[in-house]
Parts: sequence; C-alpha cells; structure tokens
Amino acid sequence: MLKRVAIITNGGDCPGLNAVIRAIVKTAETHNVECYGFIEGYKGMLKNEFIRLESNGSASGLLHRGGTIIGSSNSTNLFNYKVEENGIVEYRDLSNVAIDNVKRDGFDCIFTLGGDGTQKSARDFSIKGLNVIGVPKTIDNDVAHTDITFGYNTAVSVATEALDRLHSTAESHHRVMVLEVMGRYAGWIALESAIAGGADVALIPEIPYNIDKVVEKINKRKQAGKKFSIVVVSEGAKPKDGDIVVKKMLDDGKGLDNVRLGGIGEKVAEEIEARTGMVSRCTVLGYVQRGGTPTSYDRVLSTKYGYKAMELALEGKFNTLVTLKNGKLDYVPLEDVIGNNKEIGAKSGGTESTSIKRVPMDDDLIKVARNLDISLGD
Ligand code: F6P
Repeated sequence: MLKRVAIITNGGDCPGLNAVIRAIVKTAETHNVECYGFIEGYKGMLKNEFIRLESNGSASGLLHRGGTIIGSSNSTNLFNYKVEENGIVEYRDLSNVAIDNVKRDGFDCIFTLGGDGTQKSARDFSIKGLNVIGVPKTIDNDVAHTDITFGYNTAVSVATEALDRLHSTAESHHRVMVLEVMGRYAGWIALESAIAGGADVALIPEIPYNIDKVVEKINKRKQAGKKFSIVVVSEGAKPKDGDIVVKKMLDDGKGLDNVRLGGIGEKVAEEIEARTGMVSRCTVLGYVQRGGTPTSYDRVLSTKYGYKAMELALEGKFNTLVTLKNGKLDYVPLEDVIGNNKEIGAKSGGTESTSIKRVPMDDDLIKVARNLDISLGD
C-alpha cells in the first residue's frame, strides 16, 4: 500500500514542471497518498529537506506557473558529489546518505522529474533499492524512448516567436539574422522552430555543416531578389571539419553536466558576413526558452505525465520512466533509457556518449526541411 511519496525536480528548469507536480499531487490525493517535495532536486535528498505538497496549500495555482516551486539543482550527481573541505576538492559517493534519508522518512516512491542525467541517477538509486519513477523533462526533447518531453513545445513556441520578430527586422535592414537556440547535442528545437518560423537555414548537431552550402543558399536567395535570410543554429551544431563551441568547462570536466555550450551562432554569423558581404547579426535566445508559462500543449502533456507517474506508483511499476509512445501514455524501464551508460555513478548529461535521443536522419522533420528547401548545411 502506497502511503507517502516524494517528488524531486532536478537539472535545468523547464516549463511544465509545476504542472507535473500539481498532477501528481492531485492524483495522489484522489488515492489518499501523501505527497512531499524534496527541495532543490537530489540536493534535497542529501540534506533531507522536503515540504508537504497539498493541492489546497503549497501546491495550489501551479498549472500555468513557470519554474519549479520546489527548486532544482543542476550538476548534482550524489554518486560522484563535489565536496570542498579545507580548500581541497574531492568527489565522493554520498548516495547512501540520501537513501538512508528516504528510507527513514518512509517514502514509498520518489518521482524524478528530469532529463537524461537525472534519470541516470534515478536508475542508479533504483539499483540500490529505492523505488523511483521518472518523468521526462527537458526543453531539448532528447530523452530516449519517449515521443516528446514536457517543456519542449514551449521552447519551440518561444523560438518561433523570436524568428517571427527577427524576420521583420531582417527584412527592414536587408540582413542575415542568425538565431542560436538551445538543445545541447540534439537539434529538435532548431529544426522544428526553423520549420515553424520559416527559416532558410537550420544547422543541427546531427548534421555537421559545410559553410559553403550555407553561403550558397543565402546567395541563391539574394539572386532571387530576397534581400534577407534567416538562419537557426542549434547550440551544439558544428562544422564538418571542426568541433562544437564550448563556452565554459565546469568542474574541470568532472561534474555531471560538465559542458556549457554557446557561441556557434556568432561564429556562423561572422562567417556568413565575411563570405556574402551581407550584414549579419546573431541573437542568442538563451534562457527565455526555459522560463515562464508553459503552452497549453505542455500543460496537458505535463498533467498526463503526472497522472501516469502516480498511476504507475499505485500499480507498483517502479524503476520506470513515463513515456508517450505513438501518442499514448506508456512507460519503459529506466534501464532502457540510460542505454549504454550502465556504470553506476558514471557522469552523464554533458557528454555526447550518453544515450540521448537525437534527430534521426529519416525523421519527417528532416524530410520536410529538405523538401521545403531549408538548407541543413550539407
Ligand atoms: O538541457 C536544457 C538546457 O537548457 C540546454 O538546452 C542548455 O544547454 C542547458 O540546459 C543550459 O544549462 P545551464 O542551466 O547549466 O546553463
């Protein structure tokens, strides 16, 4: 019999987190289960800091609210946790402290709302005896085995609106406007917003680009009388003979999510300007893609995911991830989600080797882009 459950929201925040929390809490209440929230993700499990979540109390008014009311922490891997003592930095496995806390507090299940790094740790906790159920969160849409993650639709909408606005200024000034969007090593946000926003070029991590092809496309438009062009660049895009642009390497590369990407948009804009002679400007969309209110799509998806997570817990289907498969709610073992990254405590989320879902070359979005003459830089 399920009595007490707890939620953590971990990793970068994302629109829809609060809507998932609300749905878990409400479904829990329907089944007389008490719901709690650990503060700041896995850190809360370590420090044993949590609050009671009730739909008539702390968890009210959540559906449309951005962020997460229980806070989140990035780069927290309790299996390889950064500890600083007397100026000496060490990485320790503190997972047992968190496990003892969860057991002592009597939580029958932990819902882990997070992306691939968070679910990797969830799987590691499940091996060590905790009951966990993951919910696939990230604007990047790169979690394996689910059609879509919550937060992604909102990010695409924000990027699309930005492209609409860039269109009018590009047209007025006869410029090339480059928009750098998030997505880490997956090009979903770039590709889908490029289609929604009528971009001329979309550069994604899955297709290393050839700048000659980008220039060719812009020149072709110029010859056809189009005096401006719109280019979307995913932060993880790279030239075919070069590498991704890393803005900062965190924690000497030892942390969970150890690489901060950024800067490729500016590089592409400079190259286009030099090669076409057209004034080019770069806009980095950044964290507005992650903040604020979720779209109606994400509110519904988050609510569905929250309900399903609680249903799985009631059925005792632990150590799983809630998914959407061909439009239907479903679930997969967490083991499958982390793919080849099996080693307990191994870092993930910041390396290309994790089992993230990248854009497959036979995806409909790729076919649509090619047939609509959106250059993918190849
Ligand atoms: O994973 C979501 C995401 O927003 C990425 O698209 C981006 O690269 C990253 O998080 C930035 O995270 P941080 O909060 O560490 O700056």
